[in-house]
Amino acid sequence: MAAFLRFTLLCVFAVVLRATDDPLAVAIGHAKAHPQGDVPASFVAADYRGDLRDLPIGVFDSGVGGLTVLEALKAHDRHHNLTGADGADGVPDFAGERFVYFGDQANMPYGNYSAVGRTDFLRELILRDALFLLGRRQANGTKPPVKAIVIACNTATAYGLDDIRAAVKAWGIPVIVIGVVEAGAQGLAETAEGAQGGVAVLATVGTCASNAYPKAIAKVTGRPVRQLGSASLAAAIEGDPSVKTPIRDIIRADVGAFLKSAAADGAAPIDTLMLGCTHYPLVADEIAAAFAYWREQSDAAGRKPYAALVAPRLKQVNPAAWTAEALWRSLRGAKMMAVTKPSSGDQFFISVANPQWPGVGLAPDGTLAYEYKYGRSPNQVGREDTINVPMTADRLPGATAGLVRDKLPLTWRSLQGAR
Ligand code: DGL
Repeated sequence: MAAFLRFTLLCVFAVVLRATDDPLAVAIGHAKAHPQGDVPASFVAADYRGDLRDLPIGVFDSGVGGLTVLEALKAHDRHHNLTGADGADGVPDFAGERFVYFGDQANMPYGNYSAVGRTDFLRELILRDALFLLGRRQANGTKPPVKAIVIACNTATAYGLDDIRAAVKAWGIPVIVIGVVEAGAQGLAETAEGAQGGVAVLATVGTCASNAYPKAIAKVTGRPVRQLGSASLAAAIEGDPSVKTPIRDIIRADVGAFLKSAAADGAAPIDTLMLGCTHYPLVADEIAAAFAYWREQSDAAGRKPYAALVAPRLKQVNPAAWTAEALWRSLRGAKMMAVTKPSSGDQFFISVANPQWPGVGLAPDGTLAYEYKYGRSPNQVGREDTINVPMTADRLPGATAGLVRDKLPLTWRSLQGAR
């Protein structure tokens, strides 16, 4: 009997220990313990008691890729702004809203944490992103709290959407939380102009490992899905100096390896690409060019091994526009669209390494060293080995700034005016 009791107590202890070690439980407890929002990863509880309608909308990504989603939010015009009726009225649906954007660039790529067994740490990073948006703290100043969180990152949606929704519920705050993956699947169902063939999901290695897209797509269509996970493309687009291979070569090699294995498996012909990483719309033309290149390649026998596997014209689905629509529906449904014309513009923040933090490991260029970045463990939600500072165009590497300027004009203009 005594042995049984001891065993039962041990089991209960183990379960409690596991629950309190879980990044979600830790983040919930941490923010609840600091209702004044006075420490990192906390928010002012009182901010969420009044009328939230005029608060900005928070948008976050692991880096600048989420700016492609912000662009879609700013361009979205599928409704009449006064009546809400379907149909564009020439005025963007979020014209009366302002945005707070956060890119956790110091801790990216998010897509590689799962491959090194750091999924729980990634979950903690994602919860910290949400807490940053909810709170007022940032290095050298304050930021407003937000009424909605758009997870403009596929990897973060795959690993953190459920956590953020559960945390918001546990904190008892009426904040809307939207992710990009289900929106992307919805986009696939609604568009792709009658395409019925196989779908290639291009995403990070982590998003592919989570199977978030195959699961979401299976809910809306029976089309075959095959995933292409790239370990370095997002970082290259971000301007990460440790990635030396040119973007075009990374894409060509990744697509070549993908088609080789798809052909070996006898995969269904592909006619649609899902851009399942927020960075990829910035290089959509290069992606299309790589598939076209491989389609035309001949083997030693003069055959074109991928000609039948790749449709001559591939449709591309970018989840961003459907994310915008999902946000619009949620805000409108909750009667949380802004009522007062914003007196200030959008705000942009980015994380950078904090050399003051004890034990922080830095690379020669001042960013977090790879071994340090991917060697961390969760349960230190309030740590400040990275700090969040205003993002300005001159903080972005030149090539990245050029991509944003050329491909995301609304966002670029807003970034120029940001403080
Ligand atoms: N932006 C992220 C996404 O959409 C990927 C970049 C990263 O690996 O951090 O999945």
